[in-house]
Amino acid sequence: MDLLQFARGPALTWASAIFVCGMLWRLSGILLLKRKPDYSEARHTGTWLGALKLIVSRSWPRREFIRHTFLGEALGYVFHIGLGIVVFAFAPHILFFKALTGLEWPHLPNGVVYFSGAVTIAALLVVLIRRLTHPVLRLLSNFDDYFSWFVTITPVLTGLLAAAHLGARYETLLAVHILSVALLLVWFPFGKLMHATLIFISRGTTGALFERKGAAT
Ligand code: HEM
Ligand code: HEM
Repeated sequence: MDLLQFARGPALTWASAIFVCGMLWRLSGILLLKRKPDYSEARHTGTWLGALKLIVSRSWPRREFIRHTFLGEALGYVFHIGLGIVVFAFAPHILFFKALTGLEWPHLPNGVVYFSGAVTIAALLVVLIRRLTHPVLRLLSNFDDYFSWFVTITPVLTGLLAAAHLGARYETLLAVHILSVALLLVWFPFGKLMHATLIFISRGTTGALFERKGAAT
């Protein structure tokens, strides 16, 4: 079996299985937590609406803090949107999803995807430099912060190298690209990348509690 067959076969299959089991394990561990009964009288009842309101309102910077949070939030939006474009709007990726699920959708021109990939890498590099140079952020950062950054940027980097046929045979570059995706899938449920789902659970829970208490959000 050559490297590409290994990457496309056992590596991606096992990584996907670990990803699915890990996500189910983490999410059920949180969602099945026993809740304490709340005997207080609810001020408002629309808790689902309260949850939704806080998820939306916390996704936008507060005017009072915008001067200090703008750079971090703008970088965050840039690289998350960039990741979304390269993963879901690139024709070869859509073919992969079609083979997996039977679903397909329109793609963006390759040039737009490559540009988004380059912008994503630039934004992630600035994010890392900021983390390394900001005295407080640096003190607060641990292995998870750096490793999650690494497994996020690597598939974008290896994808661009494969598309540019740069540095090795195409089959080798593609194998390395797929292995980097496998690493991302394996790490995803166990580190802070779980924020992709937990952010909705934590903001939603806070929003629902605020609504019940009649607190302004
Ligand atoms: C700009 C960034 C990227 C570029 C240019 C790119 C490019 C490519 C190319 C050329 C292929 C091979 C298609 C083929 O010949 O079969 C591929 C496959 C794939 N890429 Fe990417 N990629 C990028 C980012 C990503 C990211 C961020 C992920 C996931 C996190 C990802 C996941 C995959 C997967 C799952 C495959 C399918 C492997 C297979 O065919 O078995 N790619 N990519
Ligand atoms: C809908 C899904 C997602 C949401 C709502 C979300 C939201 C966020 C937010 C609010 C932050 C903090 C940004 C900041 O520091 O200003 C963040 C950070 C981050 N996200 Fe996501 N995210 C999602 C999915 C993902 C995925 C799928 C990945 C990777 C594959 C990812 C990778 C990262 C990384 C690496 C950071 C940390 C950047 C740093 O070092 O500061 N996110 N995300």
